[in-house]
Amino acid sequence: MVSRMTLFLCMLVMLLTISQSYAQTSFLRNFCMNDKGNYTANSTYHNNLNTLLSNLSSNTDIDYGFYNFSYGQDSNTVNAIGLCRGDVKPDACRRCLNDSKVLLTQLCPNQKEAIGWYDQCMLRYSNRSLFNTMETSPNFYLWNPGNATDIDQFNQVLRNLLDSLIGQATLGNSQRKFAAAHVSGSVFQTIYGLVQCTPDLSEQDCSACLTGAISEIPQCCDGKKGGRILRPSCNFRYEVYSFYDPTNVKIPPASAPKVSVLPPLSTDTLSTEVEAEKDEEIRSSETLQLDFSTIMTATNNFSDANRLGQGGFGPVYKGKLSNGQDVAVKRLSKNSLQGDIEFKNEVMLVAKLQHRNLVKLIGFCLERTERLLVYEFVPNKSLDFFIFDEVRRVQLDWEKRHKIIGGIARGLLYLHQDSRLTIIHRDLKASNILLDAEMCSKISDFGMARLFEVDQTQDNTSRVVGTYGYMAPEYVFRGQFSVKSDVYSFGVLVLEIVTGQKNSWACREENEGDLLTYVSNNYCFNDLFSLSLERLDSISLL
Ligand SMILES: *[C@@H]1O[C@H](CO)[C@@H](O)[C@H](O)[C@H]1NC(C)=O
Ligand SMILES: *[C@@H]1O[C@H](CO)[C@@H](O)[C@H](O)[C@H]1NC(C)=O
Ligand SMILES: *[C@@H]1O[C@H](CO)[C@@H](O)[C@H](O)[C@H]1NC(C)=O
Ligand SMILES: *[C@@H]1O[C@H](CO)[C@@H](O)[C@H](O)[C@H]1NC(C)=O
Ligand SMILES: *[C@@H]1O[C@H](CO)[C@@H](O)[C@H](O)[C@H]1NC(C)=O
Ligand SMILES: *[C@@H]1O[C@H](CO)[C@@H](O)[C@H](O)[C@H]1NC(C)=O
Ligand SMILES: *[C@@H]1O[C@H](CO)[C@@H](O)[C@H](O)[C@H]1NC(C)=O
Ligand SMILES: *[C@@H]1O[C@H](CO)[C@@H](O)[C@H](O)[C@H]1NC(C)=O
Ligand SMILES: *[C@@H]1O[C@H](CO)[C@@H](O)[C@H](O)[C@H]1NC(C)=O
Ligand SMILES: *[C@@H]1O[C@H](CO)[C@@H](O)[C@H](O)[C@H]1NC(C)=O
Repeated sequence: MVSRMTLFLCMLVMLLTISQSYAQTSFLRNFCMNDKGNYTANSTYHNNLNTLLSNLSSNTDIDYGFYNFSYGQDSNTVNAIGLCRGDVKPDACRRCLNDSKVLLTQLCPNQKEAIGWYDQCMLRYSNRSLFNTMETSPNFYLWNPGNATDIDQFNQVLRNLLDSLIGQATLGNSQRKFAAAHVSGSVFQTIYGLVQCTPDLSEQDCSACLTGAISEIPQCCDGKKGGRILRPSCNFRYEVYSFYDPTNVKIPPASAPKVSVLPPLSTDTLSTEVEAEKDEEIRSSETLQLDFSTIMTATNNFSDANRLGQGGFGPVYKGKLSNGQDVAVKRLSKNSLQGDIEFKNEVMLVAKLQHRNLVKLIGFCLERTERLLVYEFVPNKSLDFFIFDEVRRVQLDWEKRHKIIGGIARGLLYLHQDSRLTIIHRDLKASNILLDAEMCSKISDFGMARLFEVDQTQDNTSRVVGTYGYMAPEYVFRGQFSVKSDVYSFGVLVLEIVTGQKNSWACREENEGDLLTYVSNNYCFNDLFSLSLERLDSISLL
């Protein structure tokens, strides 16, 4: 009884917290632009505005937090831009924009142009085109009344943090230009920073907008513990507490340019104390690029003892960086036609793909003829090591296999759909699925086709990369690839995981065949499901 009561209370508290955090009532600030023209009630402009705004909340595509639409003809065209803070989840984003739309039209009942900011989102509309134009006004400041301690140091660290964040955010794509991170130290408090541009801006405009805003810190929030400046095209905020959701900060990715967020003054005392936290740091090409000598040291001069195996693109070595991190180093064979700059650019792009079901790229090395990729070390070998071995296979119970399949599916979905690049893996197979300490699956070797300059903009290629047995027929025979050919490979992989049979195990037998033939010869679908899939209850994965 008591525990039920407790449960009930907990749920009540949760509900209240949830409804409270979403009940956005008034804007932080809004502007009705009286000088930009008025419309009359029930005019064409008014109706267009309503149509446009009603589409806003019914539109379910706002999954990256930026919304831009136009509606109407000629002088009655209405343009709108909605932007959610980069860490705000799609549901909350939609709710915030919906609230904005209701409130802004109430507060500005006849202005053609208006803008309103909530903490989590901004909405603006006008009869002029807003897209692709950097605008710095109207703007406003907010600050935390508390004074920062040790102001000079605080400012220095803050400045460096914001500069790095600007660097990160401007490199974003046309869906998202956002960065957030924190630096901590014992002398001053932890500083949390966030910068964002509307993603329609060019890199230069975004940088100019944010740099301009930051230069106004002395007027806005000099010496204060927290502050923010909001402009139509960009905004930043910093605080000494966490004000954004770090679990939903997709860009910037991890790994540390500690140097870039260190205050240059008295580094001898501070450098050991300032510690940017692992999951939230900023990284740039300088920190991704490693010296050949570093890698030589890490891998014992590529000793045979460190050699883990031979991948499709060259040998792989185990290594330990000087900070103690275990890594796997892939020494690429020297047949890439790509130039150094292209290679570097591709690595930078691939390094931005971060997902728990993808093996993380930590760095690369480009020196003379050497091209090396440095990945996080994934301890439990690859999937083929387990599923094709009669003894080890037993360690993978249904629950583990289910988890592994789910992980591969999520990683693949991210590569295909949710990441900033559409990456077709093209060589998905058991030996490319690595298993971490918790036996979660991580896809490796993604982006290799890009690194090797196989033209991915074409829908067909003369150079078929991949492994027979996993490749979709249209890819093998005609060189046509798409996300569908990856899904085909995924299907083969699922069958392998479920049956424990290699897709091309035969050859020694007369009735040579592949797994697909085996499956279709040996089981009708009902049998297969009852045999194997009954425990894999989530068929939706397929
Ligand atoms: C917007 O409306 C104002 C006032 O009605 C008008 O002066 C201006 O030309 C309009 N802008 C566009 C791009 O139609
Ligand atoms: C628009 O309407 C507001 C009042 O709602 C008024 O103050 C303003 O002068 C009007 N602007 C123009 C350009 O007529
Ligand atoms: C606008 O239209 C609504 C119904 O469509 C009507 O009730 C209202 O009186 C109209 N307002 C004006 C100012 O014409
Ligand atoms: C509403 O949004 C959809 C996309 O979600 C778009 O195709 C459609 O044109 C929009 N309609 C209006 C009236 O803007
Ligand atoms: C945003 O608006 C611009 C100009 O109207 C248009 O070119 C662009 O395709 C739009 N983008 C989206 C995502 O609707
Ligand atoms: C938008 O807000 C209105 C009123 O505030 C509400 O009735 C409606 O359900 C909301 N729509 C969405 C999609 O949240
Ligand atoms: C912050 O410092 C200013 C002087 O620099 C002082 O006037 C103000 O009272 C201080 N505020 C707080 C909250 O300590
Ligand atoms: C690695 O090679 C360098 C010179 O190439 C040598 O000085 C060093 O001792 C070697 N280290 C190991 C562990 O073999
Ligand atoms: C996976 O790795 C962890 C830690 O390295 C180890 O404890 C565990 O036994 C491994 N699991 C298997 C099945 O090898
Ligand atoms: C494949 O690409 C070549 C050019 O690279 C083109 O000539 C050919 O028509 C394409 N084939 C198909 C099936 O798209």
